[in-house]
This record gives sequence, structure tokens and C-alpha cells, in this order.
Amino acid sequence: MRFNLAAALLALPLLAASDTPDYQAQFQEFLGQAQGHFEKLASRLPSPNTYDPVAAAAAKDGPNNVHVIALHNWKETLYGPVTPGSITPEEWWVLMTGGNKTCFGHCGKVEAAFNETAGKFASEATSPHMALLNCDNQPVLCNAWSAPVGSLWIFEMLPEPSPISIFSKRLNLTTVTSDDLVQLEKGGYKAVAREHDGIFHPFNGPLAQNGLSIPAGYLLWACGLLPSWAFMILVSLFSRRMMASRMEGQMRGGPRPATTGQAAPRR
Ligand SMILES: *[C@@H]1O[C@H](CO)[C@@H](O)[C@H](O)[C@H]1NC(C)=O
Ligand SMILES: *[C@@H]1O[C@H](CO)[C@@H](O)[C@H](O)[C@H]1NC(C)=O
Ligand SMILES: *[C@@H]1O[C@H](CO)[C@@H](O)[C@H](O)[C@H]1NC(C)=O
Repeated sequence: MRFNLAAALLALPLLAASDTPDYQAQFQEFLGQAQGHFEKLASRLPSPNTYDPVAAAAAKDGPNNVHVIALHNWKETLYGPVTPGSITPEEWWVLMTGGNKTCFGHCGKVEAAFNETAGKFASEATSPHMALLNCDNQPVLCNAWSAPVGSLWIFEMLPEPSPISIFSKRLNLTTVTSDDLVQLEKGGYKAVAREHDGIFHPFNGPLAQNGLSIPAGYLLWACGLLPSWAFMILVSLFSRRMMASRMEGQMRGGPRPATTGQAAPRR
């Protein structure tokens, strides 16, 4: 619940700003500045992301041919097999997995089934490319995509700047087998998976289009570390401050906001 609340709070002003053409230019300028500040800040924070390049290389070159994606390499990995000018999508299957922290130790079976499936696919020429995203190791990326652990995301990659379709399917963590996944590929996933859209879409969503996915991922990850009561207190302090400064503005005889004034962003 606290996750959704944070997401909603984050999304509202962004969507409001990007939907009003009048403020678009102003918003872009603000965005540029915010990104600059964010990059400086992020370079000083201790990174919550872990990635083992040796293990990742071994997994990629191993018999299962499984890629391990992370914040720094997901995009180039997914675009890797895409040829310029191609109109047939390259299919990537990405399993959102996790360990004791994000999946409470329940992702072992689905991960093993996925690995086994990758081994079967590796010998077929037209089968999907396979990748693992471990949310214990990559909390920022998982938050930026708002990706639930234990789900399978199927990316249909086309050359840039084409929009990318993603289909997602929740897998049953207690029962799923490699045969189920092979069957999903044979039978066609479009009938049983859901097309993914919304503000967190890694390519087409408004956050990604404005370069805000990763800041949002950090913000949501940080909100997730707070206990929910602390989050509520922050929200209430913040809204009181806003009320107080608005009242103060009126008492000083500042310009009275028009009746619709609240919708207009401040300069
Ligand atoms: C996850 O938790 C289980 C049970 O508490 C423990 O046996 C296992 O070592 C833990 N795994 C990791 C990677 O910490
Ligand atoms: C699946 O494969 C990856 C990459 O080789 C490996 O790190 C992981 O431990 C495997 N998971 C299971 C449950 O075998
Ligand atoms: C997974 O499958 C088992 C056995 O069919 C079922 O009891 C369980 O409710 C399923 N879990 C989910 C999350 O659908």
C-alpha cells in the first residue's frame, strides 16, 4: 500500500505538468535542472545495486545462455541482438526474480524452471533470448519498472526509436515448471499474458520518455525503506508546509490566487 501511495504522489505532478501544453517548455527546463542535480546526488550516494560481472559472463557463455541484466546494462543487452531497420521484433524473456529480501526465498523454483527452459531454448535458432533480473541485487531498476518479482516480462524489441511492446505474466511460484514455459512459447503468450503499459513502462512510459525512470526508481526504493508510519508523517508535514506558505502569501497581501489558481504551477 505504501508503495502505491508513493507511486501516486510521484506521478500526479508529473502527469499534470506534461499534459498541459502551456507548461511543457517550463517543465522541460525544470526537468533538465532536476536531472543535473540528481546525477550529482546519485554519484555521491552508496549504491544499493550489486552486480557480479564474472558470474554474469559465465551465465551468458554457459550452456543456458542466460543474460543477467542490471541498471547499467539492461538497455544495451536488450537492444544487443536487434538489427537496424528490422521490422521483426527480437523477443526477450526476462524473469523478475529475487532472493530472501524481495522474494522471501520463494523464487528458487521459478528461477530453476526458467534456467532449465533457457537450456532447452539455447539449441533452437528461433527461440527467445533469456535474461534474469534479480531484484535483491538491483532494487533501483526493479522499482523504476515497478516490476513484481516472480513475473515474466516478454519484450518485443524493435530498433530505436520504435515503441516497444511488453507482455507480462505472473507465474505460479509453487507449481511452475520448465514444461509450462516451453508450452507458453509454443502456444503463444499473447493469449495469456497481459500487455504492459502505464507510467512505469521502461521504454514507452512518460517517466522513461522524460528520463525520469531511474530517479523514480531511487525515490521509490528509498520510500520502501521507510516504515509506513514515517512515510505518512512526511506526507503530512509536507502538505502542512504547503498550506502554511500559501496562507502566509495571502496574509502578506500577495496576489490572490484566481479560483482556478491551484492548478497553475508556480514560476
Ligand atoms: C535465505 O534464507 C534461508 C532461510 O532463512 C537461508 O537458509 C539462506 O541461506 C538465505 N539465503 C541467502 C542468500 O541469504
Ligand atoms: C539460474 O541461472 C543463473 C545464471 O546462470 C544462476 O546465477 C542462478 O543461480 C540459477 N538459478 C537457479 C535456481 O538455478
Ligand atoms: C499455484 O498453484 C497452486 C496449485 O494449483 C494453487 O493452490 C495456488 O493457489 C496457486 N497460487 C497462485 C498464486 O495462483
